[in-house]
Amino acid sequence: MCGIIGYVGKKTAAPILIDSLKKLEYRGYDSAGICVLNDSLQLQTYKTTGKIADLELVLPRNVGGTIGIGHTRWATHGQPNTENSHPHLSGDIAVVHNGIIENYLEIKEKLIECGYVFKSETDTEVIAHLLHSHLYSNNSGVNSCNSGSQSKKCDLMTAVQGTLRALEGSYAIAVLCSSEPDVMIIARKDSPLVVGIGNGEIFAASDVTAFLKNTTNVVYVDDNEIGLIRGGNVEFFDTDGNKVIKETTTIEWDIEAAEKAGYEHFMLKEIHEQASSVYDTFAGKISELDGTVNLDELNLSDEQIRHLTRIEIIACGTSWNAGLLGKYLFAQLADIHTDVDTGSEFRYGYPVMCGEVLTIAITQSGETADTLAAVRSAKSYGCRAIAITNVVGSTITREIDSVLYTRAGPEIGVAATKSFTAQLITLYMLALHFGRVRGKISAEDSKNLLVALKNIPADIQKILNKKSIIQKCARQFANSSDYFFIGRHLNYPIALEGALKLKEISYIHAEGYAAGELKHGPLALLINKTPVVAIATKGHTYDKILSNIKEVKARDAVVIAVADEDDTEIEKYVDVVLRVPRSHVLLSPILSSVVLQLLAYYTALERGCSIDKPRNLAKSVTVE
Ligand code: AGP
Repeated sequence: MCGIIGYVGKKTAAPILIDSLKKLEYRGYDSAGICVLNDSLQLQTYKTTGKIADLELVLPRNVGGTIGIGHTRWATHGQPNTENSHPHLSGDIAVVHNGIIENYLEIKEKLIECGYVFKSETDTEVIAHLLHSHLYSNNSGVNSCNSGSQSKKCDLMTAVQGTLRALEGSYAIAVLCSSEPDVMIIARKDSPLVVGIGNGEIFAASDVTAFLKNTTNVVYVDDNEIGLIRGGNVEFFDTDGNKVIKETTTIEWDIEAAEKAGYEHFMLKEIHEQASSVYDTFAGKISELDGTVNLDELNLSDEQIRHLTRIEIIACGTSWNAGLLGKYLFAQLADIHTDVDTGSEFRYGYPVMCGEVLTIAITQSGETADTLAAVRSAKSYGCRAIAITNVVGSTITREIDSVLYTRAGPEIGVAATKSFTAQLITLYMLALHFGRVRGKISAEDSKNLLVALKNIPADIQKILNKKSIIQKCARQFANSSDYFFIGRHLNYPIALEGALKLKEISYIHAEGYAAGELKHGPLALLINKTPVVAIATKGHTYDKILSNIKEVKARDAVVIAVADEDDTEIEKYVDVVLRVPRSHVLLSPILSSVVLQLLAYYTALERGCSIDKPRNLAKSVTVE
């Protein structure tokens, strides 16, 4: 998730772009840049790693020009460094982009054959060069991007249309071209983009916070729409060039509410973002047509994967819960035994690391001290270590053999939500990839799983659409002093995560158990009306969890079941049913976890807790 801004008006663009980027910084903050067309009609670009404050330091005084674009980055392709930061240039073209171009490698290869030289590792740079190739004739086969000596084939709008037709994936872009100095073109597909209509000036940004202090009149750009901004006007077109009439809305939020996109808390916003963030996690990596997963960045040969004898997962908190689900997936899909250790235990636990062990560190922040120390210890045994993390350039990425990025975007709420589902998706992809290479899962089964995976964003959206049912349930039990969460097999880690979320933000005592373990002790704790959340989606342990539900009902507990939407059986045994769309049995834990996030959120809301910053907790635990 990155933030983009464009300005076309009569005022000096640079300070407006900087100010807007500061408002967008929550979307990404590892590097930033702006490009303005100065009064001599030259593109002037300033970029740096770090935050917008760092960009201000490299910006000369009095940068002229009244049209410009800017970007604050949360890296997905390539390290957070100056080369990879936006805007990206090709000759007289400058582009900023938020999203993921799935087929960028394919396009890059063709552009390199045509003589284009790439300066960054990003997917975005292909947009700039592709645009350039559409705009200028290139019969020589070698293109130095020196557009001065080349003749134009078409106008910028036509070039943008041609470029967008070739792109697969998601994008919100803003484009400048010094040979059409009064024009800015913007476009969107599956990434947010909104236009602000000011007095003789137009803004385009990833969200309204960027320009809210200048105007409250906005036009929401829809998918596959292109905006042509010129002077104080903006016109919209579809990708075939047909004019689209758009409605202008007036925003009534204040700035603080707008940063949360109108949500009361970052946590709720991040829960909602999962309908698209999970897509970003698997975008460009899966092919449901042949049942394969492409994880080239792993740098593990098929031979190495086949010879693995054990996986050692190291993580803390929510990431550990994701790791436990990974253990079940590696067993079922790839026939690999996995141990899951917390960082703090592994480092002092005299681990046995013989054989071909692959260590997988799972950490949203990439900075958790215990996880880092444990990984260093694991590596000292000579085994290969990979990381699943959300933060490009974080400490773990510099100490590990290879990295799988979860691409969930920055997570501000202390309670992990979208980073957890992104970790789960990454583990599904990894286990499936290992399973295919090791011949443990057929192409057919793999295809079915990937088809269902592609549906997960829509399934999550369906849960979000009915969140009021979860809110009602949360209200009903918000005054409970204890809560229990039970699940079996893949639903057991989800029970643990549900309990962690609830205790973390609502301060209610909550325990997660493997449902079969209740009778070995915890049943003694159940008293009249204690809420027990049973994750009871269909699967090979469904009948078993029904028995456990009956067990707790017999002790007068109140049972809240998380169940498939078409399960009519469950209603007979429980007090409340929270539904998830019917998905592949292996994938329903992802959906159940969204339900439990909402349950925790609304419980905490009801209890008036500090949701985004719970007491005693920090987002990233960088001390032992
Ligand atoms: C989850 O809601 C917590 N904030 C916490 O358990 C977190 O998952 C843990 O501290 C690990 O953080 P990491 O993923 O950044 O390593």
